[in-house]
Amino acid sequence: MAPKKSAAAKFTVPGMSTSDGTEVATLLQDRLNALTDLHLTLKHIHWNVVGPHFIAVHEMLDPQVDAVRAMADDTAERMATLGVAPMGTPGALVQARTWDDYDIGRAGAIEHLGALDLVYAGVIESHRKAIDATEETDPVTQDMLIAQSGQLELFHWFVRAHLESSGGELSTAGATQETVAAQKAGGAAKRTK
Ligand SMILES: [Fe+2]
Repeated sequence: MAPKKSAAAKFTVPGMSTSDGTEVATLLQDRLNALTDLHLTLKHIHWNVVGPHFIAVHEMLDPQVDAVRAMADDTAERMATLGVAPMGTPGALVQARTWDDYDIGRAGAIEHLGALDLVYAGVIESHRKAIDATEETDPVTQDMLIAQSGQLELFHWFVRAHLESSGGELSTAGATQETVAAQKAGGAAKRTK
């Protein structure tokens, strides 16, 4: 079956051209995919975390799930406001995304947080690019993305605080793959015990 695609906007918010409305909404579809992927991944970790820090990490993640779900909702509704249908189905997400699925199952809390460090870094980096890209076309969308980024960066710090040494170094430094980040974080946690 052909991928479902959002059609170009036939109307958009007053004061914007329909081509700008379509362009901004297209960019928001990618942010929607990233946020939906992130809140599902956070729940996956909430369910699969094991070991000594289980309850702290298990309980830390639910408020993040709720906040990221709300961000996805706002993002989809901004697309609709701009005159473009948001695609919210799992199949459309998997078909459109440019990143791999989270690849860690049941694992220790620090291992998951090591991998989650990279997940958050990817989403936040792309959000910042979207902030730059909406500077001229749509400050209202940009404002929403800035507010989301502030919250995402705070959650990222919650994760990173578990991976940081007293010297201010991250155990995941240099890792570009989730499995490697998880191994590095887990190894550092064992050495400091
Ligand atoms: Fe739960």
